[in-house]
Order: sequence, then structure tokens, then C-alpha cells
Amino acid sequence: MPDLTGMNSLNYLDLSNNTFDASEAPTWFSTIPSLAVIVMESGGLQGKIPQAMFSLSGLEQVLLNNNAFNDTLDMGNSISSQLQIVNFQNNSISKVTLTPSYKETLILVDNPVCNGQLANTIYCSLQQQTITPYSTNISQCGPKACPQDQSLRPKDCDCAYPYQGILVFRAPFFRDVTNATLFQQLETSLWTKLDLAPGLVYLDNPSFNNDNYLQVTLKLFPSTGMYFDRAEVLKIAGYLSNQTFKPPPVFGPYIFIGSLYPFPDGNGGGGSSMSTGAIVGITIGCALLIIGLVLVGIYAFKQKKRAEKAMELSKPFASWGSTGKDMGGAPQLKGSRWFSFDELRTCTNNFSEANEIGSGGFGNVYRGMLLDGQVVAIKRSAQGSMQGGLEFKTEIELLSRVHHKNLVSLVGFCFEQGEQLLVYEFVPNGTLRDSLRGKNGIQLDWKRRLRIAAGSARGLAYLHELANPPIIHRDIKSTNILLDEQLNAKVADFGLSKLVADAQKGHVSTQVKGTLGYLDPEYYMTQQLTEKSDVYSFGVVMLELITAKQPIDKGKYIVREVRMAMDENEECYGLKQIMDPVIQNNPNLTGFKRIVELAMQCVEETAADRPAMNDLVKEFELMLQDSGGSNSNSNSAASSATDFGKRKALLMFTVKQ
Ligand SMILES: *[C@@H]1O[C@H](CO)[C@@H](O)[C@H](O)[C@H]1NC(C)=O
Ligand SMILES: *[C@@H]1O[C@H](CO)[C@@H](O)[C@H](O)[C@H]1NC(C)=O
Ligand SMILES: *[C@@H]1O[C@H](CO)[C@@H](O)[C@H](O)[C@H]1NC(C)=O
Repeated sequence: MPDLTGMNSLNYLDLSNNTFDASEAPTWFSTIPSLAVIVMESGGLQGKIPQAMFSLSGLEQVLLNNNAFNDTLDMGNSISSQLQIVNFQNNSISKVTLTPSYKETLILVDNPVCNGQLANTIYCSLQQQTITPYSTNISQCGPKACPQDQSLRPKDCDCAYPYQGILVFRAPFFRDVTNATLFQQLETSLWTKLDLAPGLVYLDNPSFNNDNYLQVTLKLFPSTGMYFDRAEVLKIAGYLSNQTFKPPPVFGPYIFIGSLYPFPDGNGGGGSSMSTGAIVGITIGCALLIIGLVLVGIYAFKQKKRAEKAMELSKPFASWGSTGKDMGGAPQLKGSRWFSFDELRTCTNNFSEANEIGSGGFGNVYRGMLLDGQVVAIKRSAQGSMQGGLEFKTEIELLSRVHHKNLVSLVGFCFEQGEQLLVYEFVPNGTLRDSLRGKNGIQLDWKRRLRIAAGSARGLAYLHELANPPIIHRDIKSTNILLDEQLNAKVADFGLSKLVADAQKGHVSTQVKGTLGYLDPEYYMTQQLTEKSDVYSFGVVMLELITAKQPIDKGKYIVREVRMAMDENEECYGLKQIMDPVIQNNPNLTGFKRIVELAMQCVEETAADRPAMNDLVKEFELMLQDSGGSNSNSNSAASSATDFGKRKALLMFTVKQ
């Protein structure tokens, strides 16, 4: 169990499902004044529940179910007025001293105390206390069961085939899934906006999944009869998947994963027109065809690999096709080179754990030293996330053409032995996120932050306007901005756009790529990707530079927080409370106000209202001049355009300063 004593600004603590040794509740539970949420489900806690914990003044939720607390629960008399839910389900509590002043949710189900003294109280029965139905109640229907694929329609308790799916909310503004009011509001908005009626919507099983997204099962019923017709299903599915349906604002943006509807026969049920039937057929047909092609491709690719392994080792560019035919010879690379797998394996000490500097769904990143002494970061694709040979080739061609001092450059690649690796320059000072967190001992003063904003903006402006073809980054965030020896910004991880075939779900979708908290809401809704989506994410990064907070912090969205706090007439634009304490005492916050304004323009809802990256670059350069930065002037002269491919010019410039 870590000791968090002294972490006085911690407000959300989740240590669920840990592997710590069984222990008593640590004393720091009760001493961190800012704690609002304590979650430690299945956390191996035992002994007596510390009473002092409940009097932390900002405490809202205590979720300590599935532990082994025993003895008496006594919450004391000075309970936080914010406290809404206390869950001790499945512990070994044998006695309770109830506190009459606490009137909110308390769950004691599955504790010995519920076998004795309290057996009939609301605290011991989930039904009464917590699960007020999320949705129109079906308990009035009695114990009635429906055949497979059918469900009870709340309106009339008849069985029918619902159109169902899962709503996934990526950033809801609440954590308490026991608050039925919220889900009842969601239900109402569903039946109103989807042209249904009360009793035709059923919501079930809201929960936070492993990605911390809220997911809710949704069932929609035809108003009469057993089935929807095709036109109705198409319409509803359309409204949900093209985001025409807007949930209540507390739920935030969502995606909908619909299930296939079990139409009574293959030719269209309930009076639908042939054309809609045909559309469904064609859509599914296309999806299957593409999946088929992908499978054939994978098979062919594997066969080919096997057959040509030996040859490939001596001729790495011999064939990049994935369908058995040579599709264009060696990649056209500019300044990047080919590495053998063995060379990369050696220089990372056989991809040892000690050399691992990052990891993600794509695979791992290793630090390595090449034979000539250059330190590099090597990104090795995991087996499941590899692209076809041709896509890989296209990607490295693209990346190798991009050279800018504010972009992490590609040193080379490796494509052999069934492996795909990208070799990047190594950027020593880690991510901007780590520096803002103070993790690597770096403190960024205000002027340095301005330079980092300016540098990353230059890199992005270059991608948007000077790269050929232009590149939209898609995943700007503070962990994708790296800092070099002089703490100059270098943007990483661009050019990784992909069409994702979701074979499991039986459909092909252009997955919205990006990271929670940085996602452009307009891109989210229209799936139309533009440069302005990067501008939005960049605006969020600017807010991080100001506040050092994560974009989503305990369910609070930084954009919203800043917008609410902003006040032109106050010191620091009203942001004194939420700005990073590190810069609060900087004597000279040059351009602070303007930076706040620019950041807020970047996160405008409508893409057209956001500035272009290049406009931002110009603004930053003016500010840096004003701040009288020593080498900031040189930066401004070496703007995006001059950097492009003109290494000589840049060198001369460097010499001059
Ligand atoms: C509670 O659990 C602890 C640790 O398992 C044990 O030492 C203690 O005797 C228990 N107390 C009661 C009242 O059961
Ligand atoms: C439940 O949500 C509603 C609507 O947002 C809110 O007004 C209410 O205070 C919440 N109740 C609890 C117990 O949190
Ligand atoms: C969304 O889908 C519905 C139903 O298919 C359609 O009527 C509507 O025009 C679509 N809206 C947009 C913005 O595509």
C-alpha cells in the first residue's frame, strides 16, 4: 500500500483490485483534506473502519465494497455535508451505529450485520435503497419471461424484439451510477427525440468500463407488434450513430454500438421498401466482403512471408505487396534508412525491459543506441496491431518526408521477420505531461511554456500547411509533445491514421481516433476530420500549460472549468485558483491574458470559429518578442517555412546566434 500522506491536493483516489497485502485502512485516508472520492473495491482492507474519514469536508463518495472490514461501522457525528454514497457491500461488518444526520445512500448488503439487528432496513436491501429503476420500471409486469432475443416492453408488458445496443459515454460529468434521476432523464430524451413513446425505452446496467467510459445497455421497442420494420430501424440507428440524438448535457459525447436487428425474414419485414432492404443487404455484404478481403490478405501475406523469408532477408525492399504481387519496389525515403531486425535487437539489448520507455496498444517503445552512437527511440508494433506491408510503406514514406525541428523525426525503419519497427530520434526530456507534473524534476516557468506552445504550434502548422500531402495529427496531447535538451517542443506520433476494420462487430468504421479530453466535439459528431480538430486538441494542451491539470480531472473537464472561472476584471483573468501554482508567482506573465483567449478560441465548439495553426504561430512569435526572450527572436525568424528541408539555412542561423 503506497503512503499518500501529504498529497494534499489529491481529490480522486481509486486503488481498486490492487495486489497490496491485506491491511488496515491506512491513516492517510483520514488526513488528505481535499479527498472527494475514495474508491478501493476489492482492496484487501480489513479491521475497523476509520471514523475520521467521513468528516473530510469535501468527501462525496466512499466506495469500499468487497473488502474485509469488520467490527462496528460508526460514521461519527461530523459527517461531510457533501457525502452522497457510502458503499460497504460484502464486508464483514457486524455492528452499526447509525447516524441520524446522514440521510444519503448507505449500502451494507452482504455484511453479517444484515443477518441480525438490521435485517429489514433499507441499508440491507439493494432493491429498495440503491437501484431505484434506471428506467421505466418493468417490475409491474410480474415474473414473466420472454423467449430468446425478445424482452418485456415496459409499456404493456408484452414480449417484443427490441432494437438494442450499447451507449458509450466517454466523458460524463458524474461518477455516481446509482443516481436514477440521471438515467430517467436520458430515457425521456431518448423517447422524445427518437419519436417513440413512454414505455418504449429500456435502459439497463450502467457501469464504468475499464477505459473509464460509462456504458449503458439500451433497448428500444416497437410501439405495437413484435418487430420494428426496416425503415424504422434504419432511422433510429441513423439518429444514434450520426449523433443527431443529443443526450442531456451531463452525459457528454457518446458513441452507439448497435446490435444487428433480428428481422423476421431476410427480405424485409413489416412493409419496408425494397430499397431500404437492399441498402441493409449491401451494407452488410460490403462489410463481409471487406472482412473477407482482409482475411484473404492476411492469409496471402502470411503465406508470402513464409515463402520469401529467406529472400527477403537479403532483399528487404523486394516486395511490399500484401496480395502476392510486387506493388512498387523500394519505398521512396528521404533521409531515413533501413535497419535489420538483428541490428535493432542488439542495440536495445534484445528489447529488454530495462530499455522500455513507453508502451501502448500499438506495442512498446524502446531506447537504443545505434552503432554510430546515436540514441534512438524504437517503436515496435505488437503482433495484433500491424499494418499491411503497403500501408507500412506508405506510412514510412510519409514520415520520412517530414523534417522540422519541432517534429520528432524518423531515423529509419525495419520491416522483416514479421516485425514492423519505426526508429525515431530520441528526445531526452520526456513528455510535456511529465514536466507539468513535475515528474522529472523540471519546472517550466511561464516563458518556457510560451516557447513550448510556440514550438509545438510551429510543428503542427508545418504538418498542416507545408507537408506534402498535408498531415492532420489526430492525437495532439501533452504526452505527444516531447522536450529536448533545451526544453524545445517536439511533436511526436503524427501520421498514424487508419481505417479500422472491426471484424468482431461485423461492420467497418472509421474509428474516431484521439484521446479522451482532447477530442474535437465537431469531429466527434460529424467524423469529418480537418486541421481544426488538431487546433481544438492544441487548445486543450494550452489550458494544461496554464493549469497543469489533466484535461479530465475527477470528471471535471478543463475546458468547462476554465470557461466558468474566466473573469476579465479579475487578476489573472479569474484563473488564480486553477492556474498552476508553479507559474502563479512568476513576476512576469507576459501575454497570459492573450494566451487564455487564444486557448479558448481553439476550443470553440464550431471548427470555423477556431484560428488556424499558422495564426497561432504568428501570435506566439509576437508574444515571445515582447517578452524579450534571448533566443526566442531567433526562433521566430526561423519560422515553419524556413525550416522545411533547408537544413543549411537553419545551420547558418544557428551559428549566427
Ligand atoms: C477484525 O479483523 C482483524 C484482522 O483480521 C482481527 O484481528 C480482529 O480480531 C477482527 N475483529 C473482530 C471484532 O472481529
Ligand atoms: C442526481 O442527479 C440529479 C440531476 O443531475 C441531481 O439534481 C441530483 O442532485 C442527483 N442526486 C444525487 C443524490 O446525487
Ligand atoms: C442522421 O440520420 C437520420 C436518420 O437516418 C437522417 O434523417 C438525418 O438526416 C441524419 N443526419 C445527419 C446530419 O446526417
